[in-house]
Amino acid sequence: MFDFYPAEQGSKVELYQDLLSAAEAVTRGEPDIIANMANVAALIWQFLPDLNWAGFYRMVADELVLGPFQGKPACIRIALGKGVCGTAAATAQTQLVKDVHSFPGHIACDAASASEIVVPVIVKERVMAVLDLDSPSLRRFDVVDQQGLEALIARIGTRIA
Ligand code: SME
Repeated sequence: MFDFYPAEQGSKVELYQDLLSAAEAVTRGEPDIIANMANVAALIWQFLPDLNWAGFYRMVADELVLGPFQGKPACIRIALGKGVCGTAAATAQTQLVKDVHSFPGHIACDAASASEIVVPVIVKERVMAVLDLDSPSLRRFDVVDQQGLEALIARIGTRIA
C-alpha cells in the first residue's frame, strides 16, 4: 500500500501540487491504465475535501463507460454530448458547473450532487476519457480546481489512457 498525505496546512494550489506529485509517483512505471485510474481516483478522494464522487469514464466505441471511481455506484454509460461528462467529451473542454441543477441535461447519478467539474483526458488530440468530480456543496469548484485538475491530467494523461 502507498501512503501519501496532503500537508496539514497550505493553500489550495499547494494541495494540488501535492496531489500531482503523489499521482505522478503512484503511476510511475505502471503500464496498466485501469490500475492507474483506480489509484488516481483514490488519491483525489483522499486529498480533496467535500466530494461525493470522484472517478473516470472511458471512451469506448464512441460512448463513455464507467471506469474506476470512489463514491456511490454510478450511471454506467453516457452518450457523447449528454450530461456534464458527455459535454466535456464532445467539446474536449473542461466543464465547471457551480450548480448542477442549472446545467441543462445534467445526469443525476447521486441526488446529493450539487456541483461538478469534468476534465477531458486528451491524448494525441483524441478524448480518451473524462475525469469527473462531484460535490454535495454548491460552487465547490473554482478556477484553482480547474487549473489543478487540468495540470494533473496533463502530467499523467498518457498513463491513464
Ligand atoms: N453528473 C454526470 C454523470 C456522472 S455522475 O456524476 C458520476 C453528468 O451529468 O454527466
